[in-house]
Amino acid sequence: MRTIKQFLNRQVSAAIESCTGLRDSNANVITASKVEFGDYQANGVMPIAKQLKVNPRELANQVIEELRSFNLNIVERYEVAGPGFINIYLSDTELLRRANAIINGKLPIIPKSEISLRIAVDYSSPNLAKEMHVGHLRGTIIGDAIVRILEKQGHQVIRQNHVGDWGTQFGMLICYLQELQQTNGKEYPAALTDLERFYREAKSRFDSDRKFADRSRQAVVDLQSGDQESQQIWTQFIEESLNHCDEIYSKLNITLDRSHLDSESQYNDQLTGVIKKLSEEGLLSESEGAKCVFLPQFIGKDGSKLPVIVQKSDGGYLYSTTDIAAVHHKSHTLDIDRALYVVDARQSLHFQQVFAVSKEAKFATEKISLEHISYGTMMDSAGKPFKTRSGDTVKLIELLDESVSRAYTLVTEKNPDLADEERKVISEKVGIAAVKYADLSKNRTSDYIFDWATMLSFEGNTAPYLMYAYARIRSILAKANMGGPYETISELKSPLEHLLLTKLIQFPEIVDTVASDCFPNLLCNYLHELAGIFMRFYEECPILSADEDIRQSRLSLSNYSSLVLKQGLELLGIETLTQM
Ligand code: ARG
Repeated sequence: MRTIKQFLNRQVSAAIESCTGLRDSNANVITASKVEFGDYQANGVMPIAKQLKVNPRELANQVIEELRSFNLNIVERYEVAGPGFINIYLSDTELLRRANAIINGKLPIIPKSEISLRIAVDYSSPNLAKEMHVGHLRGTIIGDAIVRILEKQGHQVIRQNHVGDWGTQFGMLICYLQELQQTNGKEYPAALTDLERFYREAKSRFDSDRKFADRSRQAVVDLQSGDQESQQIWTQFIEESLNHCDEIYSKLNITLDRSHLDSESQYNDQLTGVIKKLSEEGLLSESEGAKCVFLPQFIGKDGSKLPVIVQKSDGGYLYSTTDIAAVHHKSHTLDIDRALYVVDARQSLHFQQVFAVSKEAKFATEKISLEHISYGTMMDSAGKPFKTRSGDTVKLIELLDESVSRAYTLVTEKNPDLADEERKVISEKVGIAAVKYADLSKNRTSDYIFDWATMLSFEGNTAPYLMYAYARIRSILAKANMGGPYETISELKSPLEHLLLTKLIQFPEIVDTVASDCFPNLLCNYLHELAGIFMRFYEECPILSADEDIRQSRLSLSNYSSLVLKQGLELLGIETLTQM
């Protein structure tokens, strides 16, 4: 099933072909940038006219003539605008037909994509040595929204939580846990309830006691070579650390669970194979005792080639080695079409190198598309990386608790008469939604300023505003006693109704764009605009007091608006409430 935009693109492209003989030209149909330009505009004629050295407005007129001969139901009329744009106005009759099919459940709100791909999404992926901190927030939230969207489109999504559970730090943690176990007997697991503190204490032992440091280094070697006791302690540690993650995921309504683990340690056995294959492909060189791959496209500032180190001189493997093995697994075992890595922008060189080496050595299949979905750093309102007052990283769990408690204060101000129980439920949802939405609504590639006041505001492009808009529509429907089944939208009396319905029909187009480019902020913008149009409609077009026919029709339009808002927020991992 195609969206209207895709359909129009093909039609305009076909019309251009009839007029010029050029095949598969880019009609560049976009949502109209202003209401004065209709519902869609085709911008593709001007570059083609330039290429063919003909008058663009004349060509646009010819293309429109051709389009008219296609008799498309969906189009009411066309017009040439400015230097050669084609404005396209949709037909109300056809819009209503489509909308009613959706409202009555004959068509899905979001159609399945034409081809179902196998898509692996690596996201969240914290290092397990420490507790999850604010640095993990963005990847977790953005990744989960992308996963939900792709799944909704009918793709086969494989979630991968590529947790860091295998680095050198684990030696230190194992040794420290061993010590506690010996001195405190059974009490030791309590030390792991505060993982952050445990890590700090272990680290200070490591830094101040050489014998402890030596034992720690040995412990890594033991662990990685399969020593039973080290493995057992390590397993306990990882288990505790994962419990911390699970708590965060459930609080944040993140769809990751234990079955999605794609831990670094799982690749341990494959690392020697990676080195062997690189050597067979003639890609391996030695540099200062380390095994490296040099590729011509990676050049340092001084003009010398940059190495991708895959094995250190002491025999240890690196982060890159594991990631190369993981590309092989995705390509050859999981048969993946698209692999997305939702990871901090600071790892961009790492991924460029891993992808390049994997392709060069054929760890990657021809078909796999490897994509780093990068995101910027979370900053405080002074524009500095987000830290606690004492300069420590902020624990995620504390941040979320703070958001919920701030939301509670706000909800209490707004709704003092509500029972305390209900205020708690609402603030739990609003507090979490505010944090998630604030992140999702920013362009992920920029650094992002974390600011309580804006994210919890009931105005602007925020979760509380959208959740409130949704609750508002539901309460209108409840007042009208309209619990469904819903009647049809029978007519669009005012231009605002046309605008609202067109916006609603465009929902799958936005979902499509986010699925391919992975910018959830576009979906946020869309929902914010939609809610704004609905509010205008609500103010300008009487609903409950209108004549019966119009009342029914407008109630159905409101119902459809609420369905899209709910579905849109759900795709972002945000739950709605019927009362706020
Ligand atoms: N554990 C890493 C970190 O916290 C992120 C892992 C991302 N995924 C990957 N395949 N490298 O920085």
